[in-house]
Amino acid sequence: MKIGVIGTGYVGMVTAVGLADLGHQVIGTDKVTEKIEKASRGEVPIYEPGLEELLNKNLKNGNLTFDPDLEKTIRASDVLFVCVNTPQRKDGSADMTFVEGVSRCIAENLNGYKLIVEKSTVPVRTSFWIKRTISLYKKGDSSFDVASNPEFLREGSALSDFLNPERIVIGAESEKAKNWLIKIYEKYKDKIHMTNIDTSELIKHASNSFLAMKISFINLISDLCEKTDADVELVAQGMGLDSRIGKQFLRAGLGYGGSCFPKDVRALVKIGEDLGLDMSLVKAVDQINKKRIQKFINLIKKALWILTNKRLAVLGLAFKPRTDDIRNAPSIDIIRKLMEEEAYLSLYDPEAAENVKKLFPEDPPNIHYAKSAYQALEKANAALFITEWEEFEKLDLKKVKKLMDKPIVVDGRNIFEPDKMKELGFEYYCIGRK
Ligand code: UDX
Repeated sequence: MKIGVIGTGYVGMVTAVGLADLGHQVIGTDKVTEKIEKASRGEVPIYEPGLEELLNKNLKNGNLTFDPDLEKTIRASDVLFVCVNTPQRKDGSADMTFVEGVSRCIAENLNGYKLIVEKSTVPVRTSFWIKRTISLYKKGDSSFDVASNPEFLREGSALSDFLNPERIVIGAESEKAKNWLIKIYEKYKDKIHMTNIDTSELIKHASNSFLAMKISFINLISDLCEKTDADVELVAQGMGLDSRIGKQFLRAGLGYGGSCFPKDVRALVKIGEDLGLDMSLVKAVDQINKKRIQKFINLIKKALWILTNKRLAVLGLAFKPRTDDIRNAPSIDIIRKLMEEEAYLSLYDPEAAENVKKLFPEDPPNIHYAKSAYQALEKANAALFITEWEEFEKLDLKKVKKLMDKPIVVDGRNIFEPDKMKELGFEYYCIGRK
């Protein structure tokens, strides 16, 4: 079986490399020729641990090739994984233009039976539309199947998520489609959760929205903790001990960002509302998340009163650690608001600074990019922690205190222990604990 992977963004690239590493013959294609050229040379445009090494391994052993020609890739493949992006439209729904375009191209190049697998996050019922589009536009009498195989990879651990999956969700109709997908994922046979296509599509949106709901829930509880003597970290631990609730995704802080949760939550609201359902539960998840930024600004103001001309070390710009991705990163809105207040910002992130620089170019003294966390902290009136990079957990706090103008720390991710910070002489502000 030859597998074509259409779209070599985050999901597509990991899928192409992962499938090749499982021993399949894979061709990756993308309409951005530059991406294909880079990938062919073994270069990955994103920071993702292990991806470049595995890409090079599979380029060398011949399992993986790249081709900018979509039509050629379609004709040369038996299975097509559709990994194009589904951006958010103004009304919250997912924009399916790229999926439609690819479906038409597949129809026009259907030179034999093909299995089309949706990997992109798509609203429930998308496969119906892909099927209809291909049927409408195909020329010959070749048959095809459409299946759903949503991706659950997390940025920063995408490759290990692909290679050590907790589950492989497959939505398929025909026996042939089911068998082909079982064969592709033979190594993980016992992890396969086989459903019909609508169910598989919904599992993805429901999973992401549920995880986002856990985060908004704990953030709401953290507000409650701040009004009382409760400690949100201990509340989360206590809740997590109940295996029905689970420990994960109960970290209070600045809320969720990234390319999936914000978009998927809004898409689920739209899908439900279009079907006449009351989606207020899911809507509240989004509303609570949006309020996290202003809450953090208020916390900074509680510490500093006036922000104008204050020197602030902004530590952590990526939407989460171990990635250079800044899509929907809380840092972006926070920087914008701090600039409105005319504060002087010294920014640092181990991986994402270059991406942020494109939005906020170096402009001293208003915006300065530091080479290290320590450099950002020099003479700072306060340190703002926005992403919980491990590097920050390991900072020499005595050194930090000496470097700063005033030992004020506003920690949006509860990286440090309040008692220890106070003992070291810091004025320490954090989320949902004292
Ligand atoms: C997510 C899903 O986990 C993944 O299965 C899906 O395929 C894509 O979306 P990702 O966006 O890479 O992955 O990040 P994830 O690690 O899930 O974190 C999402 C956001 O939630 C981050 O902004 C993170 O900082 C935040 N978060 C996570 C919290 O605020 N608290 C938590 O307890 C956990």
